[in-house]
Amino acid sequence: MTVSDSNNVVLGLRLSDTLIVLSGTMLSLYLLYLWLLPKPIPGIPYNKEATSKLFGDIESMVKYTSETQELYQWIIEQNIKLKSPIIQLFARPFRKPWVIVTDFQETRDVMLRRSKEFDRSPFWGEVSGSIIPDCHVHMPTNARFKRQRRWLQGLMTPAFLHDVAASHIYDICLDLIELWDQKSRLTQGRPFAAADDVTYIALDAIWRIVFGAESSVSTTKNQLELYSSIQTVHLPEDPNAEVILPRAPCPPQIQSIITLEESGETSLKSPFPKIAHWFIRQTSGYRNAYNIKEKAISDELSKALRRREVVKSEKDRKVNSAIDDLLYRESLLAEKEGRAPQPLSRGIHDEILGLLIAAHDTAATAIIWGFKFLADHPDVQNKLRSDVRAAHATATNQKRLPTCQEIVYTTVHYRDAVIEEIIRCSHTESALIRTALVDLQLLGHHIPKGTDVFFMGNGPSVSYPAFDIEDSLRSQTYHAAAAKENEKIGRWDPEDMGLFQPERWLVTTTQEEDGGKIFNSTAGPLLTFGLGERGCYGRKMAYVEMKLFITLIVWNFELQKCPDAMSSYAAVDKLVHAPQYCFVKLRKLPA
Ligand code: HEM
Ligand SMILES: *[C@@H]1O[C@H](CO)[C@@H](O)[C@H](O)[C@H]1NC(C)=O
Repeated sequence: MTVSDSNNVVLGLRLSDTLIVLSGTMLSLYLLYLWLLPKPIPGIPYNKEATSKLFGDIESMVKYTSETQELYQWIIEQNIKLKSPIIQLFARPFRKPWVIVTDFQETRDVMLRRSKEFDRSPFWGEVSGSIIPDCHVHMPTNARFKRQRRWLQGLMTPAFLHDVAASHIYDICLDLIELWDQKSRLTQGRPFAAADDVTYIALDAIWRIVFGAESSVSTTKNQLELYSSIQTVHLPEDPNAEVILPRAPCPPQIQSIITLEESGETSLKSPFPKIAHWFIRQTSGYRNAYNIKEKAISDELSKALRRREVVKSEKDRKVNSAIDDLLYRESLLAEKEGRAPQPLSRGIHDEILGLLIAAHDTAATAIIWGFKFLADHPDVQNKLRSDVRAAHATATNQKRLPTCQEIVYTTVHYRDAVIEEIIRCSHTESALIRTALVDLQLLGHHIPKGTDVFFMGNGPSVSYPAFDIEDSLRSQTYHAAAAKENEKIGRWDPEDMGLFQPERWLVTTTQEEDGGKIFNSTAGPLLTFGLGERGCYGRKMAYVEMKLFITLIVWNFELQKCPDAMSSYAAVDKLVHAPQYCFVKLRKLPA
């Protein structure tokens, strides 16, 4: 054997060693790859091509959401494509699939009767846990959740809603009317973009409800000052073109809430929300907003504490804001728990921020779509206006606006129907996300513990024709309840469920004083607020808000149909939450 021979042998050995190592590595990598590939839950339909990609359905999801900003609509389209009320999607790499359910009856069953098997999913908490770590909204329904809810206990009582919240909202509505008076003067009845106005107005409203009239922060006041100093704006040659109006800067406190909220929304659309949000948190924009928010809430808490100090006895104290009521509830809780009140705790701070976040974007979206639907359905708008004017006959005769109390305490069935239909069609929030606490059965399928299940609010059965589901696939709790339940919820007619039609919420009655039609809240499926213990906590406040805004706007203005290019129903047809499509064209009405 020569040196070169032995070299060859060594080389050969090395080569084969390397080959073995290499193929071993390849094999392990391949096994790892197989192991990382999406693992479907047996029996539940899914997109076949997704299971051969490490990133599952993500490519399709990211493409859709970057074009439309809509995650939930993409989800529903997968149900429709796969023709099933229950499907699974691979939207988070290397993790369990999401199970998606689009059926009102099944959702209702889970939300009302299966709370031992399903609870709040960590989905929101992954991100909002960094923004509002101690707020109850992302907690499981445990003792801590129930304890924190006590702080908010007073806010949905009729006393708070009708006497405190309503009067703040009413004042803010007057701001919007003044703002739109100015805008219709400047635009001379031409269309302008309205989504920002409503978004900021809704923030002003909840800001004032939470902190009281003493807190002078308002986005709209700045706008009003600006417009009152302007005589004219540039009107484009084309009378149908949008008139662009200048905007006053938003107060930093309010902007900080928007920035924090947007950070959450952006991250949730990413396949790695936690990491995405971590990066956002490192930016100076986020940190700045966070600090401004911290200071704003602490300042308001100090003010509220001073108000409490001035008036010594509880019975002499007047609750004028949510923060007043929270501090009162904390004093009760402290007494019960035998400790000193801790008004400056992180928990109270985060509940306050939680209210600001939960209340404004949702309400603004519903109101924006409301204006759009009314503009595009003049018959509905006219009937609404004449019913409202008839119901507030004294105000009509005295040529004044109805007062806050008149609006809050007067039932107008057609108005209730319009509001409910706006809420149904506005697709404000559209997924109720729960986690499976145990291995369980859902629509005939086995769902492993720890799976996130999305119950879609605006899919088939609410906004699209329902899928047929055999009764035998439903749960025991469903059958037990169906047997004894006397309250039945109707079903929407597949022929017209895609249309904006307030009449669907009315039933004929023999009572003449109601004009023969009364509002029926169980006429058909609605999931916009969720249902049951973890459904929307602010639902009653949202109705008060809608009632005041809708009444006062149609009283003061005719919302006219915008030119076609600006009233694109692409957005609404696809049920996309896209406020940039919202323009208004106003005509001021005589008192
Ligand atoms: C049109 C307006 C609104 C809509 C469409 C809406 C919708 C929703 C939805 C879908 C949920 C999740 C329900 C679930 O997972 O089952 C929710 C939760 C919540 N909402 Fe609203 N909301 C609105 C207004 C408000 C307002 C005005 C407030 C507060 C004043 C509020 C406070 C809350 C809170 C605190 C939660 C968390 C409840 C919990 O975790 O148990 N919402 N909302
Ligand atoms: C409301 O609608 C449901 C479903 O159609 C029906 O069962 C119920 O009787 C209606 N309520 C009234 C008061 O008519």
